[in-house]
Amino acid sequence: MAVTPPFLAALRREPTTHTPVWFMRQAGRYMAEYRALRERYSLLDICAEPDLAAEVTLQPIRALGVDAAIIFADILLPLDALGLGLRFAQGEGPVIERPIRAPADVAALPAVEAREVLGNVGAAIALVRAALTDGPPVIGFAGAPFTVASYAIEGGSTRQFIQVKRFMYEQPSAWHALMERLVEFSVGYLTSQVEGGAQALQIFDSWVGVLDGADYTSYVLPHQRVLFDRLRGLAVPTIHFGVGAAHLLQLQRDAGGDAIGLDWRTPLDEGWAIVGHDRAIQGNLDPVVLFAPWPEVERRIDAMLDRAAGRPGHVFNLGHGILPGTPVETVRRVVEHVHARTAR
Ligand code: CP3
Repeated sequence: MAVTPPFLAALRREPTTHTPVWFMRQAGRYMAEYRALRERYSLLDICAEPDLAAEVTLQPIRALGVDAAIIFADILLPLDALGLGLRFAQGEGPVIERPIRAPADVAALPAVEAREVLGNVGAAIALVRAALTDGPPVIGFAGAPFTVASYAIEGGSTRQFIQVKRFMYEQPSAWHALMERLVEFSVGYLTSQVEGGAQALQIFDSWVGVLDGADYTSYVLPHQRVLFDRLRGLAVPTIHFGVGAAHLLQLQRDAGGDAIGLDWRTPLDEGWAIVGHDRAIQGNLDPVVLFAPWPEVERRIDAMLDRAAGRPGHVFNLGHGILPGTPVETVRRVVEHVHARTAR
């Protein structure tokens, strides 16, 4: 009988032979293989072409020995699919060409089916699965409605989130309609990823930490809960990740997710106690620690593993994505060290 891969077992809080490891943004510019492909193709070309997306997804599997693959895509693809226009400008980050600025813009969002407009992502997942018959499980993902809405409304990256909060406060019914639309699209999108073969799903709520608990409760939590409730029907484990969101952990847990992803600011044991030990936990090394000399990296990993205390249900990860410039050799040694140190 096939043994459950450690990553999937940990998400179910079952004992594992070692603590599973993967890294958010494990495919990307810090890897020479990725940069070589990017000389010939744009980020959006790679996302659109299943062969290329599958190839990039496999690069860190070959180089690092991680316990999960995450499909190469971007949380902003749905905004392009919904007709808002997406490009990645050099040095500027993502640009949404026709941002949502008024209730009429929400009403005008086209009634497109994710399966039709983003079917290439499910197709890429199928190729990765075929290449990894005995390999690690494949994670599908989407941005959470708040984080995706923040790009849709701001038109790009932002520091203060003025436009998105202003939209929430000035146009609450259009805001809720937008969140409902994004949830609807995401459910279809994630369903098509599971149909393609995704074995777990992560929801990235990268910027939700800019909200206080009251705003999260009023403007986000009801939608986030519908999203997770509907994902339960897909019968794959889910990971709910936020950044700078220690003050929201209980609310995020209430919204859903078999595992909660912690950023690096919260000590793992404290975050897990707040979330509750009836959920798995993912995290949470500071991505910048990977730039430190190895003995310091090792010391930080060991301290984190001590906090996890061998409790079933820990998935080792960073507290946010790997940064460009991270030494690949350090990343590889992290995997090796976590595996050796947690072998049971
Ligand atoms: O984890 C993986 O390896 C899978 C691939 C992945 C990408 N984006 C590819 C990508 C994932 C999971 C994402 C998620 C994503 N995208 C998030 C949530 C996670 C997080 O980091 O908080 C966000 C906020 C985005 C939006 C986005 N996409 C930004 C802000 C940027 C940076 C723009 C820039 O100029 O650096 C991107 C671009 C992007 N998406 C890259 C990659 C590998 C950068 C590399 C490139 O330009 O080739």
